[in-house]
Amino acid sequence: MQPITVRPESPEDARAIDVVHISAFGGEAEAQLVSALRVSNSYNRELSLVAELGGRIVGHALLTRVPVRKGGQERHVLALGPMSVVPSQSHRGIGSELIQAGTRLAKEKGYGSIVVLGHPEYYKRFGFVPARGLQVTCNLPAPVEALTVLEVEPGNLSGGGHVEYPEPFVALY
Ligand SMILES: CC(C)(COP(=O)(O)OP(=O)(O)OC[C@H]1O[C@@H](n2cnc3c(N)ncnc32)[C@H](O)[C@@H]1OP(=O)(O)O)[C@@H](O)C(=O)NCCC(=O)NCCS
Repeated sequence: MQPITVRPESPEDARAIDVVHISAFGGEAEAQLVSALRVSNSYNRELSLVAELGGRIVGHALLTRVPVRKGGQERHVLALGPMSVVPSQSHRGIGSELIQAGTRLAKEKGYGSIVVLGHPEYYKRFGFVPARGLQVTCNLPAPVEALTVLEVEPGNLSGGGHVEYPEPFVALY
């Protein structure tokens, strides 16, 4: 198999990223979410990762900066999502490469944790644990078990907190 390259999104990648999400999720909602987040304060192009295979974009994982509030205090973590891989290239480790690259990037940029709303069984293998166990909640009306957390810096979320996903996520849910 050709090597997979993971790199930050470039301005000319937007259409290819849309295609990845539309084909993987079977609808436009996640592609629209990415477009809305791109023009929000939460977005940093360096934290929007594409996976390339043979010069073609086959996966995308977006990390955005989100506040976690507790007792009148606020700090920021990264929220992973949307993330997807085109169906024709799934089960080849591309999703895993994107998550591992995202985790390295979070460390490099000094973020202590990554939160994700999604299939908990998938994220478990990368060290994500149920948010509930850490008293971490969020403002989206998703099933509580769908929220998982990776403390990139051990103990970073001890004491818990409330993750405030930005408006484009609220509009999607
Ligand atoms: C989930 C997704 C990103 C995984 O990408 P990938 O490149 O296939 O992932 P990897 O190859 O690194 O890992 C594959 C493993 O993930 C697991 N997996 C895939 N989808 C899963 C799911 N929905 N729930 C639990 N585990 C899942 C499988 O065990 C699979 O193992 P296998 O290859 O031995 O069958 C991809 O399948 C996808 O885009 N799905 C549709 C969109 C989506 O659900 N995105 C995530 C939202 S939380």
